[in-house]
Amino acid sequence: MTSLDRGLLVVVMGVSGSGKTTVGRTLATALDVPFADADRLHSQANIAKMSAGTPLDDDDRRPWLAAVAQWLVEHEATGGVVACSALLRRYRDVLTAAAPRAWFLYLHVDRDALAQRLEHRRGHFMPAELLDSQLALIEPPAADEHSVTVDATAAPDSVVRQFLARVGGD
Ligand SMILES: Nc1ncnc2c1ncn2[C@@H]1O[C@H](COP(=O)(O)OP(=O)(O)OP(=O)(O)O)[C@@H](O)[C@H]1O
Ligand SMILES: [Mg+2]
Repeated sequence: MTSLDRGLLVVVMGVSGSGKTTVGRTLATALDVPFADADRLHSQANIAKMSAGTPLDDDDRRPWLAAVAQWLVEHEATGGVVACSALLRRYRDVLTAAAPRAWFLYLHVDRDALAQRLEHRRGHFMPAELLDSQLALIEPPAADEHSVTVDATAAPDSVVRQFLARVGGD
């Protein structure tokens, strides 16, 4: 049985504004699998911290990553798509340890495009000031990770098509 037969399991990752939620929903619809947004798995305390412009530390992230890992494990059999920043290798390693077949789809968007997107967005708890700290932090997936990088300045449908073309035979 291939991964496609049981539904792809995908973590859509990248910095704020890279399109994780948008592309993640589009991908889940295309695959007909459940979608979750890891932002919804944060505690109220974490959301308050981010709203105040304070980056989370690893202690804040531990229970959050455990919840994302749990979601992946629960969708191991059916497949699913979760939008999760997963900026650092050590965070992704937690998810990979729990669900080794999960793909990371890394949405790469240049800084100018990101800043423009965030400026036009309303009603979201991530202020644009966190953009630079995220860009300084992010560790793009390494060659030994189960990942695909796509230029996500393209339209969501196109990003999804490119990803599926890359993993199609898996
Ligand atoms: N491929 C795309 N092309 C153009 N605009 C996009 C694309 N993907 C997302 N957007 C727009 O960019 C903004 C940010 O997208 P989205 O909320 O999906 O990003 P995100 O990575 O989930 O951000 P966050 O980490 O803050 O939740 C939204 O206004 C969305 O409509
Ligand atoms: Mg989002």
